[in-house]
Amino acid sequence: MKTVLVIYNSRSGHTARIARRIWETVIAEGNQADLMDVVEADREGVDWNKYDLVIAGAPVLYGKFRREFVGFVNKYKSILDAKANSFFCVSVVARTPAKATPEGNVYCRKFLQNNPWKPKDAHCFAGKVDYPNWNWLDVKMIQMIMKMTKGPTEPTAVIDYTDWKDVEEYARHCLTLQA
Ligand SMILES: Cc1cc2nc3c(=O)[nH]c(=O)nc-3n(C[C@H](O)[C@H](O)[C@H](O)COP(=O)(O)O)c2cc1C
Repeated sequence: MKTVLVIYNSRSGHTARIARRIWETVIAEGNQADLMDVVEADREGVDWNKYDLVIAGAPVLYGKFRREFVGFVNKYKSILDAKANSFFCVSVVARTPAKATPEGNVYCRKFLQNNPWKPKDAHCFAGKVDYPNWNWLDVKMIQMIMKMTKGPTEPTAVIDYTDWKDVEEYARHCLTLQA
């Protein structure tokens, strides 16, 4: 049995749902697990000694991962390095199979190359298009990206591109990782 921390950042809630499915799967496999938002983790503190494995994930927003997430993983880099760990990234470009691998997904690849914390394992998930719940400027910007990448542009589009079976498989895969 392992003790696992699933930690995430999420702007509109979708990465939070993916993190929750990972957490639920880890528990269903007979392990102990906690689920925390990075802001909560940073403010309230983490009892790192408890955990054998840390799974950390964040969405791509305008080509980047948010400061809260990047700041957190880099601040605790040496602790993370001493444990089994994995990073998952969520983006809509990952709906295309060629952009759904850590090498093929430009955001994930750049993170792995340039970020001070180098995760030992990485995975890309396709995220959600949710125009009705995004603000006007975000909708315009994402519609532009979608036009260029031949994705949906109708302002009413709500499309969950996440492969939820793959999320569960990823959780089981993470349980096999070593420190
Ligand atoms: C403001 C904004 C910017 C985004 N920028 C990108 C982007 O640059 N590339 C991309 O592939 N997806 C982009 N997305 C899609 C998100 O990665 C996707 O919707 C993800 O599911 C959002 O996760 P969250 O609900 O946890 O915030 C963007 C979404 C929003 C709302």
